[in-house]
Amino acid sequence: MNILAVESSCDETAVAIVRDGREVLTDCIASQVALHRIYGGVVPEIASRKHIEAIYGLADQALSDTGLTRQEIDAVAVTYAPGLIGAVLVGVNFAKAAALAMDKPLIPVHHIRGHIAANYLAYPDLEPPFLCLVVSGGHTMIVEVTDYTEMRILGTTLDDAAGESFDKVARVLGMPYPGGAALDAAARLGDESRYELPRSKPGANPYDMSFSGLKTAALNLIHHAEQVGETLDIPSLCAAFSAAVSDTLVPRVVRAMEETGCRKLAVAGGVAANSRIRRDVLAAAEAMGAAVYMPPLSLCGDNAAMIGAQAFYEYRAGNLADMSLNAYATKSILGETL
Ligand code: KG4
Ligand code: ZN
Repeated sequence: MNILAVESSCDETAVAIVRDGREVLTDCIASQVALHRIYGGVVPEIASRKHIEAIYGLADQALSDTGLTRQEIDAVAVTYAPGLIGAVLVGVNFAKAAALAMDKPLIPVHHIRGHIAANYLAYPDLEPPFLCLVVSGGHTMIVEVTDYTEMRILGTTLDDAAGESFDKVARVLGMPYPGGAALDAAARLGDESRYELPRSKPGANPYDMSFSGLKTAALNLIHHAEQVGETLDIPSLCAAFSAAVSDTLVPRVVRAMEETGCRKLAVAGGVAANSRIRRDVLAAAEAMGAAVYMPPLSLCGDNAAMIGAQAFYEYRAGNLADMSLNAYATKSILGETL
């Protein structure tokens, strides 16, 4: 089954064609990152306009890359939530029009389910059940993927997402948007023991976590240094920050493996590209004898291939939409409107 998949929830316009949920035939992306960089973050209205400009050409490119005709596309899938509402609407309207014009089924896909499904592309043998640490720009959670379209949220961040806190600290350090990757690169040259940063303590739900205290502590440290004229060791601060984020995430994942007995651990989302988190997840999984699944960096950030992968399983579960499909800025991974 060839699925034409569309993603436009933030600042990447993307169209992919994925066969049977596992094989990427083409994965076309037009990134707007350079455009938003001068503003230090995504400007929603600019994002929507750029999606409109890019989306049709990308769909054409996807067809010409694969040599497939419109008749050989079996369904159209689209990210319908969550994201910047004007941006998501562009993809949803394009996908509705394409499905209508080609007379094909329309498959709505939750963006975070798509991030998880990036693992199906990287690991053809991976099947649920497994645990997944989801770390993106807007979401941070530990999910038990019981089946392809059935999941249970074990814990989430109570405030900022991990990616959001990486970006904020990077921005204050003068790194270009989105700063997560730059902060990660700097951290590799630093000594994390030079700065002490707090770790999120377990709360009522031991899987929940918090990053705002850590973010504020890092920002206070930077501002204090500025005020007293002290030169910061930026790589070491980045290393200390990355270590603190990882120390918040990884012990909770270990606990989830212990308590569920599950020995398959996946990571997903843009922050899953972080070298410190990847290293610590790998070590923790190895220590527990668990299998670990980490998508290549190219599939960690936003892309449409992951949407096409998840769409195959949504289709199999009968989760289709009609022309009344709407876009949602927020919606839980379980499908509940927030
Ligand atoms: O999943 P994603 O592409 O978009 C959302 O769905 O939010 O995640 C983007 C986030 C940004 O916050 C970006 O800074 C972060 O992923 N990121 C990283 C790294 N690469 C991307 N954060 C830390 N270390 C990285 N290497
Ligand atoms: Zn994303």
